[in-house]
Amino acid sequence: MPKWKTIIEPFRIKMVEPLGFTTEKERSDLLKKAHYNLFQIPADKVLIDLLTDSGTSAMSSEQWACLMRGDESYAGARSWYVFEKAVKDLTGYRYVLPAHQGRAAERIFMSVSCGPGKTVIANTHFDTTRANVEAAGSVALDLPVKEAFNFSSAAPFKGNIDIAALKKSISEIGARNIPMIIMTVTNNSLGGQPVSLSNLKEASKVARQNKIPLIIDAARFAENAFLIKLREREQSHRSVIQIAREMFSLADGCLMSAKKDAFANMGGFLAFNDSGWLKKAKELLILGEGFPTYGGLAGRDLEAIAQGLKEIVDENYLSYRARSVAYLAEGLKKHKVPIINPPGGHAIYVDAKHFLPHILPHQFPAQALVCELYGVAGIRSVEVGSLMFGRGKGRDFEPAKMELVRLALPRRVYTQSHVDFIIEVFGFIASRKKFIEGLEIIEEPKTLRHFTAKLKPVRVGGFR
Ligand code: F0G
Repeated sequence: MPKWKTIIEPFRIKMVEPLGFTTEKERSDLLKKAHYNLFQIPADKVLIDLLTDSGTSAMSSEQWACLMRGDESYAGARSWYVFEKAVKDLTGYRYVLPAHQGRAAERIFMSVSCGPGKTVIANTHFDTTRANVEAAGSVALDLPVKEAFNFSSAAPFKGNIDIAALKKSISEIGARNIPMIIMTVTNNSLGGQPVSLSNLKEASKVARQNKIPLIIDAARFAENAFLIKLREREQSHRSVIQIAREMFSLADGCLMSAKKDAFANMGGFLAFNDSGWLKKAKELLILGEGFPTYGGLAGRDLEAIAQGLKEIVDENYLSYRARSVAYLAEGLKKHKVPIINPPGGHAIYVDAKHFLPHILPHQFPAQALVCELYGVAGIRSVEVGSLMFGRGKGRDFEPAKMELVRLALPRRVYTQSHVDFIIEVFGFIASRKKFIEGLEIIEEPKTLRHFTAKLKPVRVGGFR
């Protein structure tokens, strides 16, 4: 038999949901009404939704069956034991606490272990992780490797932590002031880039030498484990589940949003070995989430997550997943659309600063591209640039480090023809990109402005 070259979707479709077709006029009106902020657009007016891969997965028939098996007892539900076993089988950690989503697990864990005068170090904190570290009175320090900022380099593990910088920071800050080191796998805020197993081993060694707990932000652990298998030669013979288990064994605990690599629409958990953390974490869990055997989730959600954690490590699925992301990258490159290379695990990040050089950062080139994608074709994406991370206005404007548009691929949702369509749309936009206008903010909240800020188009150039 030949070795088949086409990597197919490893599922067939049993239930379908119509897409939101709209006319150009409708989209133009909707953009105006939404003040050029795509978070304000009703989802049924979106044709292809690449806003996030979080909570947007298609569940399997087995997961839907799990919903019917859900035991909704308040305490000690059967579904809780199914969930606990699935998390323990995967991570090997002794204690498991469910939470309604990743950031709830973060809030509990940071409240238990952080506090004023402390610094949490990470390869890169995800926004909610950083916000929870800061809300607990601590400083969040990111130490990504330098190549993470070189978008054109094909370095395979740009999600790594800079080990030399880690050692230096520990000696400067003092191990006793560092409640934990976090490894976000994959590194969502820096292009969904994976962390290598050898980097994780080194980080673990440094953490253990200094008696600092190492915590994995495991939202996309399986995508990371698969990219380790593909890109780290010594690991290519191992199964993804073996690699994933080793990743967890190198750490002292994990925080997980189950809305990504557990194919669930809602959920999360924290898991760890230290009995010292357990008592306080349980108290906070009961206070904010619920009794420790359901923690903010319905029994049916616990079942769906347990099943999703088994399905995600299927290598037929993961090879299709990695191929879909790479296929989108290849298509965009054909139209000379600059992206973060190599393609990461869950999304493609377009470098809008270089794609739209005529729009300067203070006129939000990435948000301008987000609006163009919607206006032209009803595709929704998200800005990761100066609207999200920039500060100030006019002459006080401080841009973000990068002006990116994230095209996140929901799991098992879109097919190859949807991706072909996205590529075609980019080809059209690339051919007339010099006509795209910048934006300015007309109203913004004090924090997390990208969710609710109001904007309007503005001719490019100069401060206003
Ligand atoms: N950690 C990472 C790496 C994440 O990407 C997210 C969420 C969280 C933690 C928080 O989890 O949403 O369940 O509370 N990322 C979403 C995204 C929102 O679109 O990338 P949550």
